[in-house]
Amino acid sequence: MYEMKPEYYTGIAAIDKEHTRLFELAEETYQLLNDDFIQDKTDSLIHLISELINYTRTHFAHEEEYQKSINYAGLKDHMSLHRKFEDKLMEFDLDSLGDDFNSQNDTVEELLGFLTNWLVTHIMQVDMLYVPK
Ligand SMILES: [Fe+2]
Ligand SMILES: [Fe+2]
Repeated sequence: MYEMKPEYYTGIAAIDKEHTRLFELAEETYQLLNDDFIQDKTDSLIHLISELINYTRTHFAHEEEYQKSINYAGLKDHMSLHRKFEDKLMEFDLDSLGDDFNSQNDTVEELLGFLTNWLVTHIMQVDMLYVPK
């Protein structure tokens, strides 16, 4: 369901590899949403979000380093979008998840919606801007 498509490739190998991993994490979120056998999704959700926080931090740092190296004029704006993404991830309130299956699923769904929108929009419209033509 969630995977890299030809139109998502920047042509910069290291960046494409990291974007591929981000799509894998979105796929894991999708699988978690549709898994009706797990009674309690708390642990998986906590694991996914912490993996996302760590991985995006690394990826954003690499991307920003690359942009600096090519003197990309849009660096500042791009950095502020990355910070917004990080803030949004930190806002997922996992402490008050509770053990209600439906409310847990709502949180997984919210995470997936956010990732879907962000991954595709950001990679296609924002990341592509720094790619040398
Ligand atoms: Fe990116
Ligand atoms: Fe980016």
